[in-house]
This record gives sequence, C-alpha cells and structure tokens, in this order.
Amino acid sequence: MCSKTTASWHSVLVRVIFTSCVVLSFSAFAGDTERQQAKRIHDRLAGVPPTNAVIDQMEALILAGNVQGAAMVAIGNPSFYNVTLKNFAAPWTNEAQDVFVPLNDYTATVIGLIRDNADFRTVLSDNVIYVGVGSGLPAYSNSNNNHYEALESGGFNLANTSTLVRRTQTEVTSLPDPATAGVMTTRAAAEAFFSGGTNRAMFRFTLMNHLCTDLEPLKDVVRVPDRVRRDVSRSPGGDSRVFLNSCVGCHAGMDGLAGAFARYEFNEDTGTLQYQMVNDKFDVNGVAVKYNINGTNFPHGYVTTDDSWINYWRNGQNKLTLGWANTTLDENGHSSGNGAKSLGVELANTRAFSTCQVKKAFKAVCFRDSDGYTTDRNRVNTIADEFENDGYNMKNVFAKVAAYCKGP
Ligand code: HEC
Repeated sequence: MCSKTTASWHSVLVRVIFTSCVVLSFSAFAGDTERQQAKRIHDRLAGVPPTNAVIDQMEALILAGNVQGAAMVAIGNPSFYNVTLKNFAAPWTNEAQDVFVPLNDYTATVIGLIRDNADFRTVLSDNVIYVGVGSGLPAYSNSNNNHYEALESGGFNLANTSTLVRRTQTEVTSLPDPATAGVMTTRAAAEAFFSGGTNRAMFRFTLMNHLCTDLEPLKDVVRVPDRVRRDVSRSPGGDSRVFLNSCVGCHAGMDGLAGAFARYEFNEDTGTLQYQMVNDKFDVNGVAVKYNINGTNFPHGYVTTDDSWINYWRNGQNKLTLGWANTTLDENGHSSGNGAKSLGVELANTRAFSTCQVKKAFKAVCFRDSDGYTTDRNRVNTIADEFENDGYNMKNVFAKVAAYCKGP
C-alpha cells in the first residue's frame, strides 16, 4: 500500500520524512525491473503475453542470475515455434523475401531442426524433412503445398513432437539420399530457386539467407574464370573490359560453386522438384538443359556435364570474408565436390554461417541490426563462438540474444 502511493508523492520532504516507505518503494521498484525484463524476453521470443505462473518463474530465474534460463522458459511457449520461428524462416523461402507466405516444407524443417536441438549446419545438407501428423491433414504432396497450409490453418501445435515429425526426404519425397541437401532440396526452395533461370538463384539466395551476404561484396575479378558458363558473354556490349572488371567477379566463383545444382529442375507444369530425370528438361548426362543454354554467347565457355563444384573463393579476398573450414584442398588451394549435399557442408562450415545465424536471431529478438554498435558485434561474435562449440544449437542462440536484449 505504501509503495503504491509513493508514485503520487511529489514532495521530496515527504519522502525524506517517511524514509522507511521510500526504501520499501525502491525495493519494489527493483523487483519490477526483473519482471519487466521477463515480460520483454517473453514478448520478443513468443510474441504473446505470458501467464502469471510463467512470468513468476522467469522473474525468479532472472533474480537468481539465470537470464538465459528465463529465456528458455519463453522458448517453451508453442508460439515460439508456430509464430516466431515460422516468421524467422519464411523470408528465406521466396525471392521477394516475403514473410507473409504460408508454412511450407522449408520453414517446417527449420522449425523442427531448431526444436529438436539438431546441429543446425545440417539444414543445408541432411536427408531431413519435417511433416505434420494430425487428423484432417492431407498427405505430403510433391506437387503442391496443401499439407503445410492445412497444418498452419488448422492451428496445429508445432512444438509438439508427435505433431511435427522428423522424416527423411527419401521416405517422403523419394529423392535419393545423395541428392538430398537439407532445405535446399525441399519443394518450397525448388519452386523459388530452381524454377526457370539457371539455378544460380539457389546459390545466391542460400548465400543471402545462410551466410548473410549477397554477391556484390564477394566480387573478386582475379579468380580462375574457367568455370564461367557459355551463357555469360565475354564482351558484353562488345567490350571485354566489362567482363573482366565486373561479370567475372561474381561468375568465376559462383559458376564454379553452382555446378552442384546441375541435376535439379523445378518443373512448373507438374509443380515438382525433379532430379536428373529422363525427360526434355535434362540432357543425356542427367544435367538440367538450362545449364548449357545460350551456348553461342561464348562458345568456349564451360560446358556442364556433371554436378561437380569447385570453390575458387577458397583463395583471394573471400578466403577471409567467409572463413572456410579446414578441409582437404587440391594443389591450388581449392576445395571441390559433387552435388548439393557436399556444397551444403562446405557452406555451413564457414564462419559466415555461424555469425549469420546469430545475426538473424539477434534481429528477430532485439528488433535491430547487430552491426551498428561495437558491443552488439562483439556479443554476436561471442555467441557465434559458443554456437560452434555447443553443437550448433539454435535454441541456445535465441536464448542468448534474448538475454542480451532483456532491456534495462
Ligand atoms: C554481383 C554479381 C554478378 C555480376 C557482377 C554479374 N552477374 Fe550474371 N548473374 C548473377 C546471378 C546471381 C545470376 C542468377 C540470377 C537469377 O537467376 O536469379 C546471374 C545470371 C546471369 C545470366 C543468366 C541469366 C538467365 O537467367 O538466363 C547471364 C547470361 C549473366 N548472369 C551474365 C552476366 C554478364 C554478362 C555480366 C557482366 C555484364 C554479369 N552477369 C555480371 C550474378 C552476377
């Protein structure tokens, strides 16, 4: 009662006289701080107001010095999965980076991997897909997204491990194991990034969404150009300097790496992801016809005959920019492989991948970019170090950024 009326007392004199009351109101105020922090953490992670029991539990943990533990309580709220994580991943699944798209196999798989404490690097390489189990749900389909739209509109609880279930892509979509590469080989990603074009879009958007960089900052015009495909003119507008000063900056590195996607196509007529099928979309080598289109632009360019990739960006400026993992390199210092799965491993083991996951979580929870202030950047780096040392656990990343942004 005394602390309630304190707020309306304007006279300093009165405060001094009623010293004991002032002290009481101060201590009530101190408790409020932790309660406010608990509310804020809960709001940011779950997007819904906490129950009294939950807020009490979180407040007690914060008072005990365990802010991260308090954040983990908020992460237990189903809305963290159904809303926060869905909105976290939704923009990665379309070229417009629109957050207002229905749940799909890409977002559902991200939600499931985070919920189940998976090594998050597997998001780009594993034979994994999350599907819904529940009454009234249409079966997963290779040719439409109805299953996930029903899972979302039916209000199913994605935090529930018997509702959102981990399966292999081989079981669910019939893609052979070596052809699977985490979210890159989901139907949603295929529709967005293998449809039309030349499959370079899958590479570009995977970089943007999982390494937090577009191609422009990676432009390096002194890399080996021998993988640049024939569709890229070597003298655009009749001027070879344009190729040498600009085009090659992206295409030398990108075309070498995007060879990994040579056996994929999204068939818009059937609405399905196709992998080296015998039809008019693929040539006799099982390579998507789009890889060798516009061959007359530069007939001496690279002809794709398999799904090999080579990483020329292991050398030069991008060696440090992206921070590649130590793996076996050829005599010229390049790494290489075949197919999307090994490329996914190559990309997910960069330092850029680790910091990117933290930056994205930071933005989702702190409501600002993390590169503005030195203190924020340092915190992101520390959390990225810990992410690499705790098995790439995304829940811990969310709890840590939420603790950091708990407010005053
Ligand atoms: C900043 C990086 C970058 C630079 C510089 C660049 N490109 Fe590209 N290029 C891309 C990306 C990314 C794609 C794939 C676009 C997509 O499909 O979404 C692409 C696609 C292409 C394609 C295939 C288009 C299609 O879909 O059929 C051609 C041809 C091409 N580039 C030629 C050039 C030429 C010529 C230059 C220099 C004038 C150039 N590029 C400079 C990144 C770059």
